[in-house]
Amino acid sequence: MLIGVTRETKPGETRVAATPATVKQLIALGYEVVIEAGAGTGSSVSDEAYVSAGAVIGTAEEAWGADLVFRVNAPELPEVKQLKEGATLVAPLAPATSGDLLSALADRKIDAYAMDAVPRISRAQSLDILSSQANIAGYRAVIESAHHFGRFFTGQVTAAGKIPPAKVLVAGAGVAGLAAIGSAASLGAIVRATDPRPEVADQVKSLGGVYLPVNVEVEESTDGYAKATSEAYDRRAAEIYSEQAAEVDIIITTALIPGRPAPRLITAADVASMRPGSVIVDMATAQGGNVEGSVKNQVVTTGNGVTIIGYTDLPARLPAQSSQLYGANLVNLMKLLTPARDGQAVVDLDDAVLRGLTVVHRGEVLWPPPPVQVSAAPAAAAPPAPQPVQKTEKKLTPAARLALVGAGSLALFLLNAAAPSQITQHFTVFALAVVVGIYVIGHVHHALHTPLMSVTNAISGIVVVGALLQLTVTDNVVLVLAGIATLLASINIFGGFAVTRRMLTMFRKA
Ligand code: NAI
Repeated sequence: MLIGVTRETKPGETRVAATPATVKQLIALGYEVVIEAGAGTGSSVSDEAYVSAGAVIGTAEEAWGADLVFRVNAPELPEVKQLKEGATLVAPLAPATSGDLLSALADRKIDAYAMDAVPRISRAQSLDILSSQANIAGYRAVIESAHHFGRFFTGQVTAAGKIPPAKVLVAGAGVAGLAAIGSAASLGAIVRATDPRPEVADQVKSLGGVYLPVNVEVEESTDGYAKATSEAYDRRAAEIYSEQAAEVDIIITTALIPGRPAPRLITAADVASMRPGSVIVDMATAQGGNVEGSVKNQVVTTGNGVTIIGYTDLPARLPAQSSQLYGANLVNLMKLLTPARDGQAVVDLDDAVLRGLTVVHRGEVLWPPPPVQVSAAPAAAAPPAPQPVQKTEKKLTPAARLALVGAGSLALFLLNAAAPSQITQHFTVFALAVVVGIYVIGHVHHALHTPLMSVTNAISGIVVVGALLQLTVTDNVVLVLAGIATLLASINIFGGFAVTRRMLTMFRKA
């Protein structure tokens, strides 16, 4: 099949849906690629570079007339006519608000994959353009703020005097927010962040920020996105924003609940309380803005000297990077659509990821897809199962329990008294090891289980060496025990290697 990559027609768009690197990957999947002449200019990719990667340079008609058409932006309604009947369109389509476009695509029997409708589940992360582009936008928001901010981000002690680090507040710690936190922290700023989802606290911390909890209950997320915040939450959050606005130098807002207008977080009074020279980047101006006074696609300076940036094209301001990641997202989609790597795209609508993004199929509009339940939060509690007939559990009386412990202790005492002194020593060490082990390992945080596994592997190694040393003994019981010890320790060692290998392949490039 032939993939066409068209030149973007949206004013100011600099990105392109394929780079030479992704063209090579598409060709390796069995496809042919035609690039509209000049499509890569905005991303500093020449036509020659595409040709070297194996693509053909063609006219707009040739690119639009391909079997599959890749776009960075949704086509305008008149552009739909340029697609050949039965072709496949891969682009962000905003399906929830683009009824007319979906109908026009269905009328021409176009199969349409909305790249902005990829379900937020881990398996689909590699195709999630919203994440890849928001990540770049979060980084660029920090760069834009640094550009307008008249001081360093990092603190310094110089011969000319001490410079305090800049203080940055990031509101909303989703993809863009986390990227902004990491970027601002790596520039040396003190970074604080808010988000109604308390589960992001660890991520904020790991990127060098401080999570400011609002400490008011919010509805749990079941699809990777926040749910609406309560009035009580908003009231307390507003107090935090007012306190922070008076203190910080830079505010970057990224708060969004999908399908709703952006929540208003920073009021005009908050802006007025900021020091002259402070900068705000409102990343949500396309959805109405998180900041009172921000203007879509403009930079405004308030009366008290605060700069408010409202750009909606932050990824396009890093075009080479954005195009590369966007193109890689599309390659990952094509890998899913081309299991045989034979250049033939086949859509499996039983696959939750493909079903989620297929908005038009064989002349039928398939939006909205059935919900995909995923969550970083704990799953909703299952409805209570019908109560089984109550079994009356026999509880031991305190006297019976005491008698049992006494009998056990006596048996242990007699066993130890009769056994050779070596066994008593070993048994004492073993009993102590069990108690210490339960207390130490039982309290290790989940995040540290991987290093813990290395320690247990080391212990298993010692067990194996100990067991091998017993091979000279002629006692069959000892030999059998040594054999069992070696087997169990080997399961731990080789299991550890297998798990580590699996984890490493997750980071390996395709
Ligand atoms: P996301 O869904 O990953 O993150 C949004 C975050 O906002 C979530 O963590 C959510 O819990 C949080 N949030 C919701 N309500 C909140 C509230 N009341 N207070 C504080 N946090 C709240 O979304 P993503 O991909 O990070 O995008 C964030 C924003 O950036 C969106 O508005 C998106 O449209 C915009 N964006 C802007 C770009 C630009 O060029 N200006 C480019 C890419 C994204």
